[in-house]
Amino acid sequence: MYRFNILFLIFTIFLKLHLSLTDQCVITKFEDVSNVVATCKDIVINNLIVPEGQQLTLQLTEGSTLVFRGTTLFEYFVWTGPLMIISGNNITVIGEPGSSLDGQGPLYWDGQGTWGTTKPRFLTITATNAILESINIKNCPVGCTSVYKSENLTIRNWKIDNLQGDEGVASENKFGHNTDGIGIKMSKNILVEDSIIYNQDDCIGLNSGTHLIVRNMFCHGSHGLSLSVATATIEDVIIENSIITMAENGIHIKTHVNAGDGLIKDVLYRNITMLDCKYYGINIQQNYVNLPAGQPEDGPPKNNIPIHNLTMSNIYGSVQSGAVPVFILCAEDGCFDWTWEGVEIYGTAQDNCTNFTPDGYEC
Ligand SMILES: *[C@@H]1O[C@H](CO)[C@@H](O)[C@H](O)[C@H]1NC(C)=O
Ligand SMILES: *[C@@H]1O[C@H](CO)[C@@H](O)[C@H](O)[C@H]1NC(C)=O
Ligand SMILES: *[C@@H]1O[C@H](CO)[C@@H](O)[C@H](O)[C@H]1NC(C)=O
Ligand SMILES: *[C@@H]1O[C@H](CO)[C@@H](O)[C@H](O)[C@H]1NC(C)=O
Ligand SMILES: *[C@@H]1O[C@H](CO)[C@@H](O)[C@H](O)[C@H]1NC(C)=O
Repeated sequence: MYRFNILFLIFTIFLKLHLSLTDQCVITKFEDVSNVVATCKDIVINNLIVPEGQQLTLQLTEGSTLVFRGTTLFEYFVWTGPLMIISGNNITVIGEPGSSLDGQGPLYWDGQGTWGTTKPRFLTITATNAILESINIKNCPVGCTSVYKSENLTIRNWKIDNLQGDEGVASENKFGHNTDGIGIKMSKNILVEDSIIYNQDDCIGLNSGTHLIVRNMFCHGSHGLSLSVATATIEDVIIENSIITMAENGIHIKTHVNAGDGLIKDVLYRNITMLDCKYYGINIQQNYVNLPAGQPEDGPPKNNIPIHNLTMSNIYGSVQSGAVPVFILCAEDGCFDWTWEGVEIYGTAQDNCTNFTPDGYEC
């Protein structure tokens, strides 16, 4: 009898443990999210529908693993989002093969991006010592992924597919705009690699931070592999081994004239192939003003955000007829110590370097 009780006890404990480690940690209903996320470390989100206007807040406990299975669908709602937040320390997030996160962009797109009707941003990540792998995002209404205040983070083998929002694919005036792929702000030691992005704004947009590496990317459409800096410092950046097709700019560095002081320092672009850029191959402008789609960005350049030690090495490709292969517009005392080698971008129009020419390049 005594022995039987012990066995029964062990069996019961085992069953409880088994349940809490497996069955209870599969989320299929939105109302279960907060409880499961707070109590489990091994979480599966299985074909979840996120109700309109709700945020999928995944504040994971330390050491957690989260898996996306099937389709995670975000119902249409007019708000600013983000539709999803992932945060935590020492976490792993994985998309299973065939899984996707669907933002239902076509229900929102009006060709105006953030300037048109209100649309939710898709995903914000604030994490440390984290790996997010094989995530498959479809049709972000605006901005797809923002890495914010993160450290020691790897994004690997992602696919962001907003192809349906391309002009010529979407119906007239219903195309996507401001659908930035992956942005990084106020972060340190971030690696983005082996990923594919089809979208209608910066493929990669780096705003601020240090020790940022982007490599082995394939970008289609987009506004480029970009640095967009306002009142901030960005330094120690490597962007390499990537291909970018049909972009407005292949490489775009812009400093915001209407922002405060900032700095861009120690940036290396290496082994980038760009094909059929629409407006510019490389576009570096110290006169950027953010304006609605289609409006010219002009005005005099300013040196509030100087650019030091910018290296371009083995940058190849072509721009469409009439587009400018290399455009540089620096302010007086705005650009210093740029070393370029093996920059060969073909096009019919002339380069235009105003106030500055990099060492090793003939404009
Ligand atoms: C991170 O989490 C994993 C899985 O829970 C654990 O094995 C490991 O010890 C944790 N590492 C640190 C540094 O906390
Ligand atoms: C990031 O990684 C470095 C090197 O392993 C470590 O020293 C640092 O504490 C980590 N940062 C955080 C916020 O955990
Ligand atoms: C250059 O980048 C391409 C991908 O665009 C890659 O296949 C190739 O291995 C890279 N070359 C070097 C020398 O790293
Ligand atoms: C320029 O930046 C590169 C990285 O792109 C770095 O290795 C090098 O040390 C920097 N040069 C100076 C003089 O700081
Ligand atoms: C080069 O760009 C500058 C600044 O935008 C512009 O003022 C100038 O007209 C351009 N030069 C040519 C030849 O297009």
